[in-house]
Amino acid sequence: MIRPRVVAIVPAAGTGRRLGAGRKKPFVLLGGKPLVSYALRALDASNDIDGIIVACESSSIGRIRSIAKRYRIYKLIDVVAGGATRFESVRNCMSSLVGSFDVALIHDAARPFIDGAMIKRSVRAAWKFGACIAAVPESDTVKAANGALFIERTLDREKIFRAQTPQAFRYSLIRKAYLGRRSIGATDDASLVERDRPVKIVEGSYKNLKVTTKEDLKIAEAFLCG
Ligand code: CTP
Ligand code: MG
Repeated sequence: MIRPRVVAIVPAAGTGRRLGAGRKKPFVLLGGKPLVSYALRALDASNDIDGIIVACESSSIGRIRSIAKRYRIYKLIDVVAGGATRFESVRNCMSSLVGSFDVALIHDAARPFIDGAMIKRSVRAAWKFGACIAAVPESDTVKAANGALFIERTLDREKIFRAQTPQAFRYSLIRKAYLGRRSIGATDDASLVERDRPVKIVEGSYKNLKVTTKEDLKIAEAFLCG
């Protein structure tokens, strides 16, 4: 198999409202290091990744660049201003990217525990099937409820997966999906293409959490301790 050329896109332009820390989420410290540095280091260390582009708040571009220097992120191509939504932030990366790539792997800055094996699985599946996401089977029983908080039904748990990132795609496919569309309410990338084509699920991990709340940050700290 010819190895695809892969760009990693890292949306990091959120404000971290739910975390409610005194600083913007990418710069919140986890084990004494900025949260965003974990994902960047894992992506940089992976043989499957050729370049990295980050979207952040425009006032933070310099800070991201200095973190990249400090943590030796050799593959950083660019840091661009994000937008008001994750969709816009990823789209800004897409529209700034020059050069030719075969696969785009999109990964939230807020997920520090991505690893090389997950990156490899995602790149392979994207190259083979066109689109994939890392996900884990749901372990709770899942209910659909109405607005007044009464249960409508119980969903078939066997069919429920919790979507994570990385989410990886053939480059031309996802670029077209992002650039050809107005901002929509999507909170992940697969939502843009899953109605039109099959999207493969690859194994994520329960450790690959998104740091969203204060509790998540505590859990992430515990993971670091072993
Ligand atoms: N993100 C982004 N641009 C936005 C919003 C989110 O690049 N306008 C990124 C975040 O930085 C994060 C990822 O998308 O890496 C997932 O978003 P989320 O976990 O919701 O982070 P925040 O939006 O920062 O958090 P909150 O919703 O609590 O404010
Ligand atoms: Mg958000």
